Amino acid sequence: MRTPLIAGNWKMYKTVSEAVAFAKEFRSVVKDVSGVDIVLAPTFTAVHAVAEAVRATNVAVAAQDVYWEKEGAFTGEVSASMVREAGAEYVIIGHSERRRLFGETDVMVNRKIRAAQGADLTPIVCVGETLEEREAGATLAVLDRQIKDGLDGLTPEQVAALVIAYEPVWAIGTGRTATAAQAQDAHAHIRGRLRQWFGADTAEQTRILYGGSVKPDNTAELVREADVDGALVGGASLDVKSFGEIVTKSRQAVV
Ligand code: 13P
Repeated sequence: MRTPLIAGNWKMYKTVSEAVAFAKEFRSVVKDVSGVDIVLAPTFTAVHAVAEAVRATNVAVAAQDVYWEKEGAFTGEVSASMVREAGAEYVIIGHSERRRLFGETDVMVNRKIRAAQGADLTPIVCVGETLEEREAGATLAVLDRQIKDGLDGLTPEQVAALVIAYEPVWAIGTGRTATAAQAQDAHAHIRGRLRQWFGADTAEQTRILYGGSVKPDNTAELVREADVDGALVGGASLDVKSFGEIVTKSRQAVV
């Protein structure tokens, strides 16, 4: 049985003080919620402070990226062990904004996953097609490439321990959510590939989140789908009330 996971990706929003104020209010909003893993992903600057604010609660912290080298002359980069020591337990890898704006490739995603797992971080690996790719009928081929190359060389155990987030690029920040059926189709396809490439046990264990205009109103119908194991939330995670509602609605949807 897969524990659902709801993660808030704050992108480049919230200063340290704003992030800590959110975390302190949010931890009390969700303190009685059980059976769902809850994650906040602040900017690097706020990882440590937010991790301190949610220490010993049911809320965990993710970084939004890592570099694959352990240390060295890599100005501006942050290593997996550095964010782990700062208090993160998860890390988002290969978000479409990083792929599109910063040139991240599947090969880089693969290196980052290995580095993250080597530092005891749980990677949340983002995949998803652009509108152009969907309209060209290339959605499944794009997902296949991102998964095959992104997870290349990982053991079944390593794949079972990571999280995949299906985020159709056309649904991110657009208010245009994938329908529950579109999400389920993509998730079932991804799980089918995991079964084919890494075995049935791994496919059953790997959590696959949906991301792209998730709001309190559409959470339940998405998370109710058999292969949707939670959500990666952008805009609606910036507000305590709406992110709290998403967490509670995801819980109601799975029980
Ligand atoms: P929105 O929820 O704002 O569409 O963003 C989704 C996303 O990119 C989460 O990583």
